Amino acid sequence: MATSVLQTLLLLLVVIALSLCISSSAQNLTVVDSFIEHRQSYDGGLCVNLVEPAGYACSEHTIQTKDGFLLGLQRVSSSIVNLELQRGPPVLLLHGLFMGGDAWFMDSAKESLGFILADHGFDVWVGNVRGTKWCHGHVSLSERDKDFWDWSWQELALYDLEAMLSYIKSETSSKVFVVGHSQGTIMSLAAFTQPDIANMVEAAALLSPISYLDHITSKFVLNLVHMRLDEALGLLGIHQLNLKRFLAFHIIFFFEFTMPCHIDDEIYAVYSDVLTNIMDLACDGHVDCADMLASITGENCCFNSSRVDFYLEYEPHPSSLKNLKHLFQMIRKGTFARYDYGTLKNVLQYGQTKPPSFDLSDIPESLPIWMAYGGNDALGDVIDVHHTLNELPSKPNVLFLEDYGHIDFLLSTRAYEDLYDNMIRFFRSCGTSSSS
Ligand SMILES: *[C@@H]1O[C@H](CO)[C@@H](O)[C@H](O)[C@H]1NC(C)=O
Ligand SMILES: *[C@@H]1O[C@H](CO)[C@@H](O)[C@H](O)[C@H]1NC(C)=O
Repeated sequence: MATSVLQTLLLLLVVIALSLCISSSAQNLTVVDSFIEHRQSYDGGLCVNLVEPAGYACSEHTIQTKDGFLLGLQRVSSSIVNLELQRGPPVLLLHGLFMGGDAWFMDSAKESLGFILADHGFDVWVGNVRGTKWCHGHVSLSERDKDFWDWSWQELALYDLEAMLSYIKSETSSKVFVVGHSQGTIMSLAAFTQPDIANMVEAAALLSPISYLDHITSKFVLNLVHMRLDEALGLLGIHQLNLKRFLAFHIIFFFEFTMPCHIDDEIYAVYSDVLTNIMDLACDGHVDCADMLASITGENCCFNSSRVDFYLEYEPHPSSLKNLKHLFQMIRKGTFARYDYGTLKNVLQYGQTKPPSFDLSDIPESLPIWMAYGGNDALGDVIDVHHTLNELPSKPNVLFLEDYGHIDFLLSTRAYEDLYDNMIRFFRSCGTSSSS
């Protein structure tokens, strides 16, 4: 359930709408908070929570973006690789929407890409974008400020990714390998159109690569787009999408987890009522919403559903409504462009009536790119991936996995054999002198 771009996003959307209804009905959600507290152990950062317990060395770093956000970055290495003798080339991991750097450490050391890369000698750096749980706020804004949430993936690309790469490059004196999943690929592709950013990158591996989204097949997502849920939430004055508590609430009823606390009947009634209405609207009878995850992300071949409980200790992370709006603009308009403010404000912002495109042909031909995409990915559709490929000046190495859905690229129980092994061979073929 945990994963990336639109999938969780949708789930979250549904849930956010519910949250509004629930809070406006003056219900008391204390029980939900205590439920969440009971299950999550966030104190102390990503290293302490997920990486060190698995026996890996990990250090926490805080970096500042040009627009003042304080991002958390972790550096991970394997205890079986002797760092004194040789530290491998740096690789930066970029998580998807509503996820954080924890996404790369969710399963065993043999299954999770963060651990696998460390065991292969890479100097692993874990990115966390603004607003997510492992970041540290902003130099002057508080999370309660509307302006704190005034950004979309465009700022993640141009500020967050820029800050991460600059820091890693200065720490390691080396160009950086980049791995992105879903939103992490949107950020990467947008950022690589900027020469100063592309220059810091040795090579990139994109899992479920996304730049165009207009062939998205997820009925569930499409219905929410048509319902204009993004606009509705905007009108309601929402800026932050922080649905952890509401998702937990949602999960309680949908997956029937054992409940460590009492949920009172009134809340239950309001919740299930609203939920039913929204599900009816969103699913319009064609989608089997009993299998929500598949209906949102596409059928995943290798998802271990007995781990959902664990994934939910960490996911979802917050994002901004503006980010969601920007993604919905991509779906509606079929463009890979900057945020569309509407004609008038575009003129003020960009000096033209339409937002400028991120032009994939600006990505240097010399930048080696590897991509893996799936036949069952309802968010990263094959047609859209081909559109991306056609516009790139270079000819990336591509790996097509017929039975893979969107989440499989991160959480597949066979990911090492199916794709990570291939990715690592690609990185090694890119010939940094320090790799071995
Ligand atoms: C919510 O419920 C808790 C426990 O039942 C209670 O202590 C608290 O005062 C309530 N809060 C509100 C705002 O009603
Ligand atoms: C699925 O998750 C369960 C619970 O963590 C674990 O015991 C099992 O080994 C996992 N299966 C696979 C194929 O990874």
